[in-house]
Amino acid sequence: VTPAPSPTALPVTDTVFVTVDGVTRELPADGENRDLLTVLRDSLGVMAPKEGCGTGVCGACTVLLDGQPVNSCTMLAGDAAGCDLQTAAGVAAGPGADVAHCLVAAGGVQCGFCSPGFLVSITALLARHPDVDDEAARLALAGNLCRCTGYGRILAAVEMVQRQRGSRP
Ligand code: FES
Ligand code: FES
Repeated sequence: VTPAPSPTALPVTDTVFVTVDGVTRELPADGENRDLLTVLRDSLGVMAPKEGCGTGVCGACTVLLDGQPVNSCTMLAGDAAGCDLQTAAGVAAGPGADVAHCLVAAGGVQCGFCSPGFLVSITALLARHPDVDDEAARLALAGNLCRCTGYGRILAAVEMVQRQRGSRP
């Protein structure tokens, strides 16, 4: 009689999964020790996060990891294992749809390179502090750089969202 295989005889797998915009994705075998932004863009074809500086300065690569904004260029992809990751694409289709609309309506999108990062960061900021004022918003968004708008129109977009949501009079 052939004994039934014990659970410990099952093959061990190092496969690492992360949920990206609601879809479970498998990290490539060599992905764990590469930066998350590179793995997202080059291995998984997830292009919403942008590479600006690549060194944690500009915020263009911002994604939400379990609801927290992070610079994907400065963290290891392996550290996202098992996490729920949302890019600007997922945010625009979900909790930040009104933020995306207001960024455009207020003129906060010009060349657009910084916009995915701002969309993610503003959505996270308003989730934490729905009634944030201009000065606090400016400070909170200091990790996102924009070379086009002078920031005024981006702050106007934040205010527009708040008025629509009834969190700013
Ligand atoms: S590309 Fe990540 S912070 Fe600039
Ligand atoms: S719109 Fe061009 S960098 Fe912000």
